[in-house]
Amino acid sequence: MDREQILRVEDQYLPKLYFKRPVVAIRGRGAVVWDADGREYIDCMAGFGVAILGHCHPRVVQAIAEQASKLITCHGSLYNDARAEFLEKLMKVAPSGLEKAVFVNTGAEAVECAIKMARKYTGKRGVIAAVGGFHGKTMGALSATWNKKYREPFEPLLSGFRHVPYGRAEAVEQAIDEETAAVIVEPIQGEAGVKIPPSDYLVRLREVCDEKGVLLILDEIQTGLGRTGKMFACQHWGVSPDIMCLAKGIAGGVPMGVVLARAEVADSLKTGEHTSTFAGNALACAAASATLDVLIKEKLPERAWRLGEKALAELKEIAEQYKVVREARGLGLMMAIELRFDAYNVLMSCLDKGLLVAESGRTILRMLPPLTISEDLLSRAISIIESSVAAEEDERIRGKPS
Ligand SMILES: Cc1ncc(COP(=O)(O)O)c(C=O)c1O
Repeated sequence: MDREQILRVEDQYLPKLYFKRPVVAIRGRGAVVWDADGREYIDCMAGFGVAILGHCHPRVVQAIAEQASKLITCHGSLYNDARAEFLEKLMKVAPSGLEKAVFVNTGAEAVECAIKMARKYTGKRGVIAAVGGFHGKTMGALSATWNKKYREPFEPLLSGFRHVPYGRAEAVEQAIDEETAAVIVEPIQGEAGVKIPPSDYLVRLREVCDEKGVLLILDEIQTGLGRTGKMFACQHWGVSPDIMCLAKGIAGGVPMGVVLARAEVADSLKTGEHTSTFAGNALACAAASATLDVLIKEKLPERAWRLGEKALAELKEIAEQYKVVREARGLGLMMAIELRFDAYNVLMSCLDKGLLVAESGRTILRMLPPLTISEDLLSRAISIIESSVAAEEDERIRGKPS
């Protein structure tokens, strides 16, 4: 099929669930993807943070190929070597106190499982989530997600969910009552536009949850696995949750989610209470093992920190220089540039210049590049952002058409 046919077929048969860029990605390597016409893009969207090792990392490709020729599927009701190997590796890096894992297939499913675990363990129903929080779009996860646009058409959602301002532990403290099972937050809010909370937020949340006997669930689906400069973002503040949700890049691009939890919390789920046909399948586990090996061996969290510091300094310079930019912020290789206007033109201009970036709402561009991106590609990406912002500034502030 040529490019036009591909666009036509997808537009004809798929409902318009995604904000689509007119790019037909057919191949990827590292932080670069190529479209059907051989055009090259620097990928700072990386599947909204999935491609943490970039596309088709040779170690992951090899692990998938070897496992695919041995055993692809293996239901959780049988034991499996790839699963056991991955579990051992994962538990070595898990934040202290998290000693059990439940496999799922996506981020939203990890959140579903976390909610069920919290309700089962505490025997209570209430969950406190944060304004701006994003936890996925299945009915349970959606109950914790903040954005009304996603929630309202599907109400009634789960009962017992409340949203309180993000970054204020005292708001959580006030909202906790005798029916509260858990508090769920992202250590840094991703979909809300890379919102970094005050430095004592997670520490205070941990204290509040301990004082009130409420479970702390951290959604590290976007922040986890080195993205922010530590293996898990909560480690910046020395906080361990009772339950942690992981997904996105954990298996190098193969669908997988994992819920890590304190043993007694995880063990409250009994046989049959949370299973899924594909969960912990051999192929995903082999890919996840290879991904974790590379993350650790190549010290990618540390690398993300180093590259992120430099990139953020450059983005902040852009923010100072151009009036159309409200702010640049980030931690590690999770960065955002917030405009004073709709970001659509800048996003499309980046695309024209060969750069893929993610959006966060209407006004924010989010950069979630592979942690393996070369310094050269990252600075080229930032130059493209700068020239796209400059064109927007000409148009909006100086009235010059670009
Ligand atoms: C913090 C967070 N939680 C949950 C999800 C949902 O993950 P999935 O799209 O795999 O269901 C996302 C996805 O962007 C996310 O960023």
